[in-house]
Formats: sequence, structure tokens, C-alpha cells
Amino acid sequence: MMTEQIPTSLGEMIRAEIHRAGGLEFSRYMEHCLYHPQWGYYMQPRQRIGAQGDFFTSSSVHHLFGALIARQLFQMWQLLGEQPFTLVEQGAGEGHLALDILTALQQSAPACYARLCYQIIEISPDNRQRQAATLEPHADRVRWCCLEELEPFEGCFLSNELVDAFPVSLLEKKQGQLFQVYVVEKEGVLSEELRPATDEVKRHFQGLGVEPVEGNRAEVCLAVAPWMAQLAPRLRKGFMLTIDYGYPAAELYAPFRRDGTLMCYHRHQANDNPYQRIGEQDMTAHVDFTLLQQTGDRLGLRTLYFGEQYRFLIGLGFVEELMRLQAREPDEKRACALRMTLKNLIVPDGGMGETFKVLIQGKNVDAPALICARSIRDLPMPELI
Ligand SMILES: C[S@@+](CC[C@H](N)C(=O)[O-])C[C@H]1O[C@@H](n2cnc3c(N)ncnc32)[C@H](O)[C@@H]1O
Repeated sequence: MMTEQIPTSLGEMIRAEIHRAGGLEFSRYMEHCLYHPQWGYYMQPRQRIGAQGDFFTSSSVHHLFGALIARQLFQMWQLLGEQPFTLVEQGAGEGHLALDILTALQQSAPACYARLCYQIIEISPDNRQRQAATLEPHADRVRWCCLEELEPFEGCFLSNELVDAFPVSLLEKKQGQLFQVYVVEKEGVLSEELRPATDEVKRHFQGLGVEPVEGNRAEVCLAVAPWMAQLAPRLRKGFMLTIDYGYPAAELYAPFRRDGTLMCYHRHQANDNPYQRIGEQDMTAHVDFTLLQQTGDRLGLRTLYFGEQYRFLIGLGFVEELMRLQAREPDEKRACALRMTLKNLIVPDGGMGETFKVLIQGKNVDAPALICARSIRDLPMPELI
């Protein structure tokens, strides 16, 4: 009798599954690479975010990002009648955003802080540990649970760079037909094979009303709709605030985007090869914001705001806060470093200002004027003379 060998690495485990199943659909491959319970990139003990990690997130750049978001959350709390407020953050990384939001509310809005429950949904045991350490000063406000255990709540569901980390399917359009990428092994090397796209993928694009054009490669995240369908009924009244890099579908699948948006990150180096450093590099794809909006519409989540991160932050007082922080910094070198750091949050090219988008959807909240929607024209300007 043949006994199956127990794999000792993610690569071995993936190869064994490829042989058993005759190939792995790409999203399944990506799921193993990122979330395999033992060897997945997000599941192992490892510094992922920040200078010593693989990538930066806005919340790891400066605490002002979280402090400005706290301002928007404070207004949401007021709009919901200053009642007990549950803030659910899914995919909280090392807990930086949570820390900055909680600290800002504690200092500037103690009544809101006192009524706040900060509920974290986090897939990675390593990140849960890191979050608990980071959030020690707010231990009595913070809870962890999984999405299935989340009780119906009033408040806000928040995520920053979560959806881009969901596994995606890879597609190619050839001779008028959509194909899906499967990972196979050829002569000992992981390679790709194109197979006709499933009906689910075809239905997805029919619903979206946009398709990748001939010769182009693109990604699709089929996990978004079921995820939102799980989440929406739990939000009785309130908001869903999603921050991530991405585009509306027409721009995401535009003809010029020939190779799609899938990227891998390792020690701050970007590459487009998902078949190297298996389980040792992050993999991500840009988010389809039309899909989030269309799915939300079906689930009673109405779009209240959609815009670039720079507009969102400026609406919340980025410029005024930058001036205040600068004024408090007597050392010109440090003031300059502060400007350079904060610039990353709003500059379009090479920064996080434009590709990053913010979507706010609301449920049972009418159409409130959110402060983040304050436009540049509304900013108080100093007198010229
Ligand atoms: C790129 S990090 C986001 C970092 C963080 N939001 C920040 O601002 O620094 C992605 C996070 O999402 C988590 N994650 C990915 N998929 C998840 C899921 N299905 N449920 C919960 N957490 C998830 C990862 O473990 C990680 O903490």
C-alpha cells in the first residue's frame, strides 16, 4: 500500500494538492499562500508592516491618519444619537489604526470613548497577539471575535487595506473568451494553465456590466459579495467605512491596464511573480469599488461618500492638523521630516493619496452630510493682507 507523504512546507503542500486535484484555481493558490493555518504569509510570526516589515500602511505612516478617521467616527456617533457605539474593524494588522482612533477619542471625545466597544475581527493569530500588545492601554474597550460570532450592532464597520488582501481569481480574455488561471506543475516548476472561465465568473461580469478587453489580464474577487452578505444583516444601523487602493470597475478593467494589478511585496520590494517565496511574500490586487457599491445597494447599504484618500483626509482637517503639528515642532529638520512623512498620505504619484479610495456606505441612516465630504473650497484660508 502506498502511503501519502506528509508535507513539510507550504510548497510541498501546494504541489501535493495540485497533483491530487489536477491543478489549483489561482484564488485557492493565493488563499494557501496568505492564509494556510501553518505556513500562510499572514499566519506565521513575522513583522509584516512598517520599516522592518514588507510594506507600509497609512496607519503605520503617522498617527494623524487614525486621528482624522476618529473625527469622522465621532460625527457618526453623534448622527446615531450618542448611544452605545460598536466599531468593528476587520483586518487590524498590528493594531496601529485602532490605537490611534481609540487614543484620539479618549483625549478629544471622552463621552464617545466611554460608550465605545472596539470589536476586532482578525484571521491571523500572530496579528491578534500583536494587536493585544499594541492595544494594552485600551484593553477594557477592545474585544476580538470572528465574523460569524459578530452580534447585530449599531455603529460602524471599518477596514483599511483588508479587501485587497482577499484572494482573487486571475483571468485572461483571448479570442473573445474569458479564461481563468490554474496553477499546475510542469517539469517541477509551478506554472499557469488557462481554462475556460466558470459560469460564476461570467455571471459576475454580466452583473458588473464591464469586462476585461481582448488580450488583457485581470483579477476578480468572488469573495466580496458573500463577505458583504454576511456582514450587512449584522449592521442594524450605521456605516461601513472601507479604505483601500482600487478603482471603479470601468477604470480597473480599462484597456490600458494590460497586466492587471496583482502584486507581491517582500521587504519593501514589489514584484509580479506570485510563484516565488511561497508564504514569504504578501500578495494583493486592487479593489473593485463598483462591486462594493453594487453589492451594498442590494443589501441596503447606500453609498454616502466615495472619493480619493487625499480628499477624505483634507475634508477631515488634514491641512489644519499639519499646520498645528508643524507649529509645535521647533526643530526645522524634524519639521521637514514631518512634512515629508505626512505628504505620503496625500500625494497622488508614489504616495497613498489618489489610488487609495474611501467608500462610506450607510444603512438606515438617511443621507447625512459627512464632514469628510467638506471640499477644499470650504477650508478656512488665512487672509492674504
Ligand atoms: C494589509 S493588512 C491591513 C493592516 C491594517 N488595517 C493597517 O491599517 O495597518 C491586512 C490585515 O487583514 C487581515 N485579514 C486578511 N483577511 C482577513 C479575513 N478574512 N478576516 C480577518 N482578517 C483578515 C490580515 O491578517 C491583516 O491583519
